[in-house]
Amino acid sequence: MQKDLRSCLELYKASNRLLSARREVDPRFEIPAVMKAAERMGKAILFEKVRGSKFPVVNNLFGTREMLALLFETRPERVVNEWIDRIRTPLEPRIISEGPVKDVIKQGSAVDLTELPIVTHCSKDAGPYITAGIVIAKDPEMGLRNVSINRLQFKGKNRLGIRMMPPQHLGLIHEKSEKKGRDLEIAVAIGNHPFETLVAATTVPYGRDEFTLSSSLRREPLHLIKCETVDLEVPATAEIVLEGMVLSGIRESEGPFGDFMQYYVPVMENHVFAVKALTHRKDAIYQTIQASSLEDVHLLALPREATVYEAVSKVADVQAACLVPTILSCMISIRKRFEGEPKNVAAAAFGAYSWLKYCVVVDHDVNVFDMNDVWWAMATRSRPETGLLMMEKALGFPRDPFNIHQSKLGIDATAPLNQWEEFERKAIPGAHAIRIEDYL
Ligand SMILES: Cc1cc2nc3c(=O)[nH]c(=O)nc-3n(C[C@H](O)[C@H](O)[C@H](O)COP(=O)(O)O)c2cc1C
Repeated sequence: MQKDLRSCLELYKASNRLLSARREVDPRFEIPAVMKAAERMGKAILFEKVRGSKFPVVNNLFGTREMLALLFETRPERVVNEWIDRIRTPLEPRIISEGPVKDVIKQGSAVDLTELPIVTHCSKDAGPYITAGIVIAKDPEMGLRNVSINRLQFKGKNRLGIRMMPPQHLGLIHEKSEKKGRDLEIAVAIGNHPFETLVAATTVPYGRDEFTLSSSLRREPLHLIKCETVDLEVPATAEIVLEGMVLSGIRESEGPFGDFMQYYVPVMENHVFAVKALTHRKDAIYQTIQASSLEDVHLLALPREATVYEAVSKVADVQAACLVPTILSCMISIRKRFEGEPKNVAAAAFGAYSWLKYCVVVDHDVNVFDMNDVWWAMATRSRPETGLLMMEKALGFPRDPFNIHQSKLGIDATAPLNQWEEFERKAIPGAHAIRIEDYL
């Protein structure tokens, strides 16, 4: 059997990173509230009993960099390098004829989304939202596959609202198909191995298949299986799959929804997904992600860290890049070779990933995965009078009604090269290796 959601849960369980909640929980607000507690503990959580549904719910698979390191079989600070190494070797997915996602097949009037434990996350959300479904679609002219994550608002037993707008690729694909007057076939796979979820959160050049990327991450072809009612393929070991059409020429109110920036996006006229078939494993596990949680940030950060890391590596000797805790800012550590170089590094990062608003560049002795350490470097090494790179009216995060994301600030928080000895950090011999248990 290929790696899937269940093998990931086994991996986490074996390394004490999975909690099991046995008490029955309500998918409306209670699951998200308990999820927050699991997040604080840095653990994934499986809710075994969920009110109103026979399916258990899993969450927080990406809550820490240590979890990503387990998946990538490397150290936490090397996850980005491992990602870059693995995707260098392209590998096509393979279509197979049988898979557990077809254990149960329901079509037409038998489809009833109320069976699923769809979670209502935040107080002002318009209702329950599917947030961890990977949406699979094909370009109507070229036939090339796209995989993305889009929030889906529950609207009825076979009807979901879907948020997708150009320049996001799914939005572009739908626009093309709507111009031809056609509904767009999509499939939504819920409960996947984390590699499929990660690639769905990655922006690759239009037309490049994200499942090729996840096959590379797996180091073996991802197994796909054909859908029942649409001309698409889904991961054969997914837990649950929804098949159907995004309707042409139809828009309905969608939202509000507590989004990745921790704000509510307002009600918008968005697309509608009519579900024609529901297939699932016989004891399927439903997955949910809380937008703006650490899980959501890690998921979005990792592919973008890789983009930034590769771009700045072309101009400097880069050690690490981190886009957590918000993907609108990054921290980069370098072995500085020239004065002024940190500003070039920040400019390269802004060029590579346009949503960045702040970029702090620190020396190699600073841990970019520790905000306290970066803040220490800013406080003790930066010179605001000369060390700032300001870019006004640049391309930034596009949904910006208040015009606050179109300027950028790079901060050089590195020590002067010719005074490195005076800026050497004090060291306590042996401190890293001490186990406190040995002294108690
Ligand atoms: C939990 C989660 C929910 C997301 N919801 C949406 C969404 O509703 N609409 C959207 O355009 N992007 C959403 N995204 C971001 C896209 O999935 C991401 O930008 C992806 O790279 C888009 O891929 P594409 O351009 O290949 O379609 C979400 C990401 C995550 C992690």
